[in-house]
Amino acid sequence: MNILVTAGPTREPIDPVRFISNRSSGKMGYEIAAAFAHAGHAVLLVSGHTALDVPDGVDFLPVDTAASMHEAVAHHIGRMQIAVFTAAVADYTPLAVAPEKLKKSADTLTLELVKTPDILGTARSSFGFDGTLVGFAAETENLEANARAKLTRKGCDLVIANDVSKPGIGFDSNHNEVMLVYPERTEFLPLASKHDLAHQLVQAILELHLSTRM
Ligand code: PMT
Repeated sequence: MNILVTAGPTREPIDPVRFISNRSSGKMGYEIAAAFAHAGHAVLLVSGHTALDVPDGVDFLPVDTAASMHEAVAHHIGRMQIAVFTAAVADYTPLAVAPEKLKKSADTLTLELVKTPDILGTARSSFGFDGTLVGFAAETENLEANARAKLTRKGCDLVIANDVSKPGIGFDSNHNEVMLVYPERTEFLPLASKHDLAHQLVQAILELHLSTRM
């Protein structure tokens, strides 16, 4: 099968040397891409900037901003059977990028931000994607309720939720623990390395795909 995985952070430029980003290392997404490839699938990894090596056997498309990730997904998602969105996409980007490095002058500086495209949230409506759609939810409170709201709002078949306020899991850690939020049930996968967890997640996603689409 053809599988699309998004991973890593986006970078939203402020001026030629500064950007707004987040603490995503890309590890969760790269492990998922590697696990799908290991299971014999054709994987396209659309990734923001990370320090990681591209997993063996995975096609790689580097991107920078939320807008460029949106464009890459729009271009490729049509031939995918499964899409998994692990990327930590900026929800807002500066309205204008300063052409020169901003000088330090006033005591305060106000940046005007505008919403970025919700790539996962428009996968069905804008791209017409009808494959198995898996989102992530990075939450700091009400993990299950917030993930379930995302499942419905974004038209997902499954949302994988992690509590990013817990030390030792989530952003930039080698470990994670997640809740699998399906339309009719919830499952919990306890603390494990992102490597081991990715294999469990890929198995769960493939089972879901086979049960709903074949
Ligand atoms: O990269 P690591 O260091 O390994 O960390 C892993 C992780 C914490 C980044 C990962 O497990 C995770 O939770 N990824 C989702 C991060 C996130 O931004 O979650 P969110 O709840 O804000 O977004 C919900 C979903 O919408 C996500 O699937 C996200 O990819 C998607 N989204 C969000 C905004 C946007 N403009 N477009 C999107 O597609």
